[in-house]
Amino acid sequence: MDNKVKIALVFGTRPEAIKMCPLVRTLKRSSCFEVITIVTAQHREMLDSVLELFEIKPDYDLNLMKPNQNLWDLSCDILQNVKKVLDKENPDLVLVHGDTTTAGMSALSTFYSRIKIGHVEAGLRTFDKDYPFPEEINRVMVDSVSDLMFCPTDKAVENLKNSGIKKGIYKTGNTVIDALLYVVNEKSADIDFIGLNPNLKTILLTSHRRENFGKPLENICNAIKELIEKYKDIQVVYPLHLNPNVRNTVMPILGGVERVKLIDPLDYAPFSTLMKKSHIILTDSGGIQEEAPALGVPVLVLRDETERPEAIKSGSVRLAGTNKDNIIKEVTELLTNKTHYENMSHANNPYGDGRACIYITDIIKKYFNL
Ligand code: UD1
Ligand code: UDP
Repeated sequence: MDNKVKIALVFGTRPEAIKMCPLVRTLKRSSCFEVITIVTAQHREMLDSVLELFEIKPDYDLNLMKPNQNLWDLSCDILQNVKKVLDKENPDLVLVHGDTTTAGMSALSTFYSRIKIGHVEAGLRTFDKDYPFPEEINRVMVDSVSDLMFCPTDKAVENLKNSGIKKGIYKTGNTVIDALLYVVNEKSADIDFIGLNPNLKTILLTSHRRENFGKPLENICNAIKELIEKYKDIQVVYPLHLNPNVRNTVMPILGGVERVKLIDPLDYAPFSTLMKKSHIILTDSGGIQEEAPALGVPVLVLRDETERPEAIKSGSVRLAGTNKDNIIKEVTELLTNKTHYENMSHANNPYGDGRACIYITDIIKKYFNL
């Protein structure tokens, strides 16, 4: 007998894995569902470390990552290879996450197969097709073919309603908070191996966005270099994304600079500890903009816009852009103005209560009359 609803979750990059693994675990706990995990492996090492942390063994590993891959080949590979699994498994619902090529192409593949789609982290928008590129178009496309849209915030709900979508929109919070609480409470890790100086203030830097490659990333690195020269009580740690476009720009400017540590990407558990221990975070990452406010660490976003305005509104995140002088000005303000620092470092969390996976599971049960 099998009257269980069959749900396939598809993901492939580090942030999707961090935000989907808690949902895999929650769905698997329900006897109503048969759960299949499909990873595209758009990322390889950075995906595997998350799967290991959450103790998830995928049912299908498409193993698609190629060194320095391009959007065309990756898109075709995902579109075709996800179809093969869907043909074999014929799930009742496919869940995708966010705005990556994996999300966009898996949703399109599912739509062509006439299977229902649920979008986790739906409704984020900058309303500018070029920023972030190509993510803004991926998320618009995924929402337009979805039957269920799980929005992290009121703003995301509003974006979808304003775009004319009439049904299937739910506010659930972001599963990133579920993930963060899981690592902080159950998998906490120390970071002594990084070798940070406990007497210095730590500035954590991450930057990997396509639209920042080249000049913007050079500006960011040059800003760091000047700040390091000016303030002797700071150290910078930059876990470098494995994308070669990041390394090729960063290494020539920041390699060998005193009090700057360029390190490999960290596993999620030590990275969470590092975020918590940092004085300031500079990032163009989406996920970190959501996690750091919950940990009470001020964030300067290395972009001119964000699809995550909630934490800016509540005061813990500011847009610093990619202009060198502006980045220096924003960091200087945080280093020298105590009141400003305190105002930005009050923990607040506009992204959910850590139960997003439970809400999503309940909505799916209702959708299938379970
Ligand atoms: C992708 C997503 C981006 C997301 C980011 C998270 C798209 C278009 N971009 O960008 O939205 O913010 O992931 O990190 O979907 N690499 C490895 N090992 C890994 C991961 C990456 O070697 O584990 C290298 C490979 O050379 C790979 C390259 O990085 O070809 C780029 O990976 P890709 O997923 O295409 O782009 P990201 O910049 O990671
Ligand atoms: N992260 C990590 N190790 C690192 C850098 C980031 O585990 O060295 C985590 C981070 O906590 C967040 C996620 O990876 O949950 C963000 O991924 P990324 O910045 O690659 O993608 P984005 O969120 O921008 O799509």
